[in-house]
Parts: sequence; structure tokens; C-alpha cells
Amino acid sequence: MEKGSLLYEGKAKKLYKTNDSSVLWVEYKDEATAFNGEKKEKVSGKGSLTNIISSELFAYLRRQGVQSHFIEQVSPTEQLIKPLSMIPLEVVVRFVAAGSLSKRLGIPEGEIFPQPIIEFYYKNDELGDPLLTEDHLEYLELLSPKEYAKVKVEAIIIFKYLQKLCDQSGLQLIDGKLEFGRTEDGSIMLGDEISPDTCRFWRKGTKERLDKDVFRLGTGDMVSVYEEFYQTIKGVSAHV
Ligand SMILES: Nc1ncnc2c1ncn2[C@@H]1O[C@H](COP(=O)(O)OP(=O)(O)O)[C@@H](O)[C@H]1O
Ligand SMILES: [Mg+2]
Repeated sequence: MEKGSLLYEGKAKKLYKTNDSSVLWVEYKDEATAFNGEKKEKVSGKGSLTNIISSELFAYLRRQGVQSHFIEQVSPTEQLIKPLSMIPLEVVVRFVAAGSLSKRLGIPEGEIFPQPIIEFYYKNDELGDPLLTEDHLEYLELLSPKEYAKVKVEAIIIFKYLQKLCDQSGLQLIDGKLEFGRTEDGSIMLGDEISPDTCRFWRKGTKERLDKDVFRLGTGDMVSVYEEFYQTIKGVSAHV
């Protein structure tokens, strides 16, 4: 497999073509951003941690029967993925109140929801990623009602598996974001990344954060916290 020309550069990753049109080469960058790109820093070592963790979590999900774009990790900072036509949505599942939800609705951080809460945000930096209702999704032709139902079920299944892994690792999964895309035949598939950049993880029984909040809040070193997260789940994921 040969790495080809740069296709797209985002905030966290670069996508390259390969000599095989059914495979993309993705490189995770040493760059941290928060608050819609307002806070931005080069963080050496971050790209390899998010790549290794994302690869580990996609592989774990595959063992649980969850299909995704992930093919394989090919270097510390790189993985091969299947190309998807991405749906510009952030599908957020919340088990515990934190972040923007706590702020917006005045719910104290740490409050556990009886049922996971699912939210859809329009992935559009110019508009500030607004929250969408089911009607908006249909009007904007992002998801048909059938697809909406399917994505909701799929997102909950994925996070239940991640929750199980966290639980057995002594972590509490607080919330997380997924992105989906369409394959050539039009079916919807999980894409993008799953890591402490896209989910919140607390040490069980504490509010010790092992995720991007340490960067958002400026309370810790991202690389050592992501490394700690990786060390915590690494041995466990193979046995769950
Ligand atoms: N399998 C895939 N095929 C095509 N694009 C993808 C795939 N997985 C993720 N992407 C897209 O790659 C881009 C780069 O990722 P990232 O750097 O996280 O971007 P962003 O700054 O938009 O969040 C994003 O637009 C993301 O949706
Ligand atoms: Mg991204």
C-alpha cells in the first residue's frame, strides 16, 4: 500500500489517497484544538496516542461485531481506513452530565442519566456546530427518518460496548461523539475517530479526567493523561 496525495486536512487528522481507491491513509496530527478551534496548540506525542487509542477502540468494537471504516494501524501515527462520504453530523451520546450540556441546561457535572441522552449537532464550524432536531435532520437532508432511527440505535450499541470496556478498566464513560458516513452502496458506517479527544472518561468514583477536558480547562498534561488512559484500557480490551 502506498501513501498518495493529500486529500483533506482537518484539525486533528490528515487524509491521503492510496494506490487503492478503496483505502485511505490517515495521519493523526500533533495538534490540539478546543472551543471550535479558538484554542489551538501543537502537542508533541498527541498524534501517536490518539491514533493508537483509536485503532485499539475500533479493533475492540470490531471484535464485538461493530463494523467501521477502520482497516488497520500502519504506524504510530497512521492507520488505513475505508473512504466514506461523511455525513456532517456529530452524534453525541451522554451517560453523565458534563460540558456544554451542564452549562446549557444547568445540570451539575456528574449527574447520571437514567437513560443515555443522544444529540445530533450539525458539523459546521462557521455555524458553531448547532444542535439539530429530527425535523432539521430531515429538512437538511442529512438523515432520512429511517436512517435517523438506525443511527440512534447504532450509536447506543457502540457506546454500550465502550461503556463495558471502561467499566472493566475502572473508568466511567461520561459521553462521546461519533461521526458516520455512507459507503458506496449507500449504507451508513461508523467513521472518524474514538479517543479521549472525542469522549470523556473519568476514573470511577472520582472526577479525575482522562480526556481532552484537561486541555480545555488547562488542568493537566494531555499527553500524559492520554497515555494513562491507553495504559488503563490496553490490557483489558482484549479480554472484554
Ligand atoms: N472514513 C472516512 N472517509 C472520509 N472522510 C473521513 C473518514 N473518517 C473521517 N473523515 C473525515 O476526515 C476529516 C478529518 O478529520 P479531523 O481532522 O478530525 O477533521 P475536523 O477538523 O473536521 O474535525 C473530517 O472531516 C472527518 O469527518
Ligand atoms: Mg475531528
